[in-house]
Amino acid sequence: MKIQIVVADITTLEVDAIVNAANNSLLGGGGVDGAIHRAAGPQLREACIPLRGCATGQAKITAGFALPAKWVIHTVGPVWRDGTCGEPELLASCYRNSLDLALEAGCSTVAFPAISTGAFGYPKQLAAEVAASTTLTWLQAHPDAGLAVWFCFRTEGDAETFASAIRRSEEAP
Ligand code: AR6
Repeated sequence: MKIQIVVADITTLEVDAIVNAANNSLLGGGGVDGAIHRAAGPQLREACIPLRGCATGQAKITAGFALPAKWVIHTVGPVWRDGTCGEPELLASCYRNSLDLALEAGCSTVAFPAISTGAFGYPKQLAAEVAASTTLTWLQAHPDAGLAVWFCFRTEGDAETFASAIRRSEEAP
């Protein structure tokens, strides 16, 4: 199984890389971003300053500092407006670019939160469909990557929403 679903605080996971749902400044914020910066310690912010921010849909990598994870992949999801402003393409691009960076860094395991589904307001069901189809397509395109992808949630309800989207994507022709 290359995709695993976990209900946990992403900052506690012993994986090679965790993905941060950051903002364009990369200098910290609330939600999962705040939790990751708190757990990694002030060196994470220091490492982010020279990156000079990140465009929506792109991703940048730093060390994980005090986190159990060796790397943090910072990606910036789209703010949800009405779905017609490129939100699905930008969210897909977050997953693809983060997976590319995890592969380049030699990771065997990478854990994603539900990017954009908190402060950025992306409807969870729709975000789950994008996350599932983009990740499965990426894994099929990289059969030798040896990368296990974890999706990490705070609640069982979110985990079930994403798990059903993954099952549907796997069953799709
Ligand atoms: N572990 C796993 N998932 C978490 C955790 C955690 N510790 N904490 C929250 N979540 P959000 P966004 C889930 O708001 O929507 C920040 O201020 C949460 O339940 O963290 O991409 C940034 O600086 C939700 O499902 O990220 C940006 O300004 C998901 O993570 C902005 O928020 C994403 O919620 C980014 O907004």
